[in-house]
Amino acid sequence: MKKQVLVTGGVGYIGSHTVVELQSEGYEVFIVDDLSNSNIEVLDRIEKISGVRPHFEQFDLCDRVRVQEYFQKHDGLEAIIHFAASKAVGESVENPLLYYRNNLVTLMNLLEAMGQYNVPSIVFSSSCTVYGQPEVLPVTEKAPVQEATSPYGNTKQICEEILFDSISAYAGSVRGIALRYFNPIGAHASAEIGELPVGVPQNLVPYITQTAAGLREQLSIFGDDYDTADGTAVRDYIHVVDLAKAHVVAISRLMEHNNKKPLEFFNIGTGTGLTVLQLVKAFEKVTGVDLNYKLVDRRTGDIEKVWADTTFANEELGWKAQSSVEETLASAWVWEKKIRNIN
Ligand code: NAD
Ligand code: WQD
Repeated sequence: MKKQVLVTGGVGYIGSHTVVELQSEGYEVFIVDDLSNSNIEVLDRIEKISGVRPHFEQFDLCDRVRVQEYFQKHDGLEAIIHFAASKAVGESVENPLLYYRNNLVTLMNLLEAMGQYNVPSIVFSSSCTVYGQPEVLPVTEKAPVQEATSPYGNTKQICEEILFDSISAYAGSVRGIALRYFNPIGAHASAEIGELPVGVPQNLVPYITQTAAGLREQLSIFGDDYDTADGTAVRDYIHVVDLAKAHVVAISRLMEHNNKKPLEFFNIGTGTGLTVLQLVKAFEKVTGVDLNYKLVDRRTGDIEKVWADTTFANEELGWKAQSSVEETLASAWVWEKKIRNIN
């Protein structure tokens, strides 16, 4: 019998890549997604890549009754990967209640149902945003969580606390892993799935690829006076497929009771920091496209530099990011060209 995993938000960017990896490892995947930030066609694309169509139901996980009914109906679920959340930092400042409701209530509904219906394992999508600007780099999981700079970031911190308290109270019957992602970028090698932001991209790589594709006039690089090699900010950019694979490893660790604590935290990055300009240059080199960009003022709320110490994830999970940044940027460009019908 295949092991059954519920993937919330499985139609979204990171979720869809993870569903493909889970299916290729023989898991039976059940997706719940309200399609608030994704498109149903992604299911066809997942099926095209992996030859298997995941089970799917469309509803809002804030609906507590629907969540309970779902778990009652699906009594073979062994684990959950919880991606479903709202994730736009700027929007969270404008509409904080939307973010607190969606990101906290969905997690609480799931944790409650896990206790009631005996689903013992959860992997949660957290973020390196919980570290704020770390004092020591690369940042380890032991670094303190710092005051959030946006309601979105705060939801990730509060969710980690909700997880910790609930898992402690479950006293052994529920266990979890919070994966703190650094900056996921890129697309599946098939170019069937990738990142598709709604409206003007807020994140760097979709802005770069849309500028290269002619959808945007010019990339603005936010800040050239940081204390970094070339004055632009440093991040740890990880291929979304490497990130997806980390979820498969985390799920199997929980299912096989290999976890060392009821709730564990792992940095999921490459371990290498790149400045914005280094990333832009790498994109130009790998694609042959000259990118139109200008240096402008810093973006409010941005930190100067962060990259991951991945030792703990590498050693404990036996997982390591494999793709080079060149391969990753190339995959983002192939995807952008495909969806814009550029040869
Ligand atoms: P995404 O928006 O592409 O995917 C999220 C999916 O969840 C979407 O398909 C959306 O329709 C669905 N969803 C949202 N609210 C829902 C609800 N109430 N009920 C059911 N479905 C709902 O985002 P993503 O980039 O794939 O991010 C996945 C997770 O990873 C999120 O929790 C996000 O906060 C976290 N994360 C993302 C990044 C990043 O840079 N992309 C970095 C760190 C953490
Ligand atoms: C990367 C760098 C920008 C756009 C955010 C969230 C974080 C996580 C990932 C979800 C920064 C610069 C960007 C542009 C630029 N999301 N930039 N021009 O800010 O590290 O993280 O997304 O969990 O929580 O805060 O990612 O891609 O927005 O920016 O110069 O048009 O690129 O200033 O230095 P960030 P990003």
